Amino acid sequence: MNLKVLCLALILSEATCRTGFEITVPRDTVTGFYSEDLILPCTFPVDSSWDLRSTVITWQRGLDVIHSFYYNQDQLERQNQHYVNRTSLFSQEIAQGNASLKLDKVTLHDAGVYTCSVSTNTGSQKKSFGVKIAAFYSEPRLHFSLLTDGVNLLVTSDGGYPSPTLQWLMENSDITNQTQTHLMQDTHTGLYVVSSLINLTEVTNSSLTFILHNKPLGQDIRREIQLFSNKSEKQEESANRYHGLFILISVILLLLLIVMSALFVFITRRRKEQTKLNDFEEVEQAEIQVPNGKTTCL
Ligand SMILES: *[C@@H]1O[C@H](CO)[C@@H](O)[C@H](O)[C@H]1NC(C)=O
Ligand SMILES: *[C@@H]1O[C@H](CO)[C@@H](O)[C@H](O)[C@H]1NC(C)=O
Ligand SMILES: *[C@@H]1O[C@H](CO)[C@@H](O)[C@H](O)[C@H]1NC(C)=O
Ligand SMILES: *[C@@H]1O[C@H](CO)[C@@H](O)[C@H](O)[C@H]1NC(C)=O
Ligand SMILES: *[C@@H]1O[C@H](CO)[C@@H](O)[C@H](O)[C@H]1NC(C)=O
Ligand SMILES: *[C@@H]1O[C@H](CO)[C@@H](O)[C@H](O)[C@H]1NC(C)=O
Repeated sequence: MNLKVLCLALILSEATCRTGFEITVPRDTVTGFYSEDLILPCTFPVDSSWDLRSTVITWQRGLDVIHSFYYNQDQLERQNQHYVNRTSLFSQEIAQGNASLKLDKVTLHDAGVYTCSVSTNTGSQKKSFGVKIAAFYSEPRLHFSLLTDGVNLLVTSDGGYPSPTLQWLMENSDITNQTQTHLMQDTHTGLYVVSSLINLTEVTNSSLTFILHNKPLGQDIRREIQLFSNKSEKQEESANRYHGLFILISVILLLLLIVMSALFVFITRRRKEQTKLNDFEEVEQAEIQVPNGKTTCL
């Protein structure tokens, strides 16, 4: 009992027995995957004089005790509620200096600074490192809705953490500014549901690219969407050509109508002229009509 108190006192005080006793923990922050098991690594030196019964291993997050081991067994009476039934040491590996902790089914609440403390008959030390939890975003789902003047395209992905960065490309140019992104956090799990909306009023044949990036996990979801316009360029072009042709034909028909009416007037006047040879005024008028008729024909 005295040994236990002594050892705990040793661990909790900053002082360590500096007899070359050096424990090893990760230098960088460890990333755990949501709902999976996470191993928190910690090793200590063992030599021929090492004694298991005098070894104390304690894992803490802040002041909370996560797991304790001494007298060659787990001692969990002071364990924090949050970690009950979720922690274990690799008991077979302790003799090789392995003080790593296995934490089952991690959640976002498990993020924080963890401290591994090891005290043996050859020395003691404690070291800390950060743990963060991340989750992969699911395969994005596409929803199309047709509007009277275009298409609404909604992409949704969920179950991810932390918040992602989204990008939209249209034929390699960035159109992210023309989109609306919504981020929702599940109140229970804390995981995100991300959705991004884009309105396409002018649908042309083009490729749209949706990119979701989850930095801590290096997750990159890149999906290409090919857009096909129902209206073809050829159709539009030919429609324009036909329109022009229609105007041309109308003009020609109109000219023809003018020529024919002029001819009709000319002929009727001529006939009148033949029947009323003594009417000079009318002959003069008919003569004036001739050049007029000719000009129209040209
Ligand atoms: C400790 O042992 C476990 C179980 O064999 C292993 O997965 C882990 O990598 C070991 N940790 C170190 C730091 O050697
Ligand atoms: C831990 O496990 C024991 C035995 O399986 C069980 O009785 C207890 O309810 C569990 N506690 C929690 C908090 O899950
Ligand atoms: C998006 O809009 C912001 C502010 O309106 C601007 O600073 C940024 O350059 C724009 N990005 C692109 C890719 O157009
Ligand atoms: C897209 O259209 C919907 C309704 O049709 C509108 O509520 C929304 O604000 C539009 N979004 C953008 C990015 O223009
Ligand atoms: C375009 O879509 C409309 C409505 O679905 C259809 O009636 C028409 O035939 C389509 N045109 C082409 C060129 O596919
Ligand atoms: C778009 O692609 C379709 C199918 O490849 C083609 O029939 C149509 O003419 C194209 N439209 C335009 C505007 O290029």
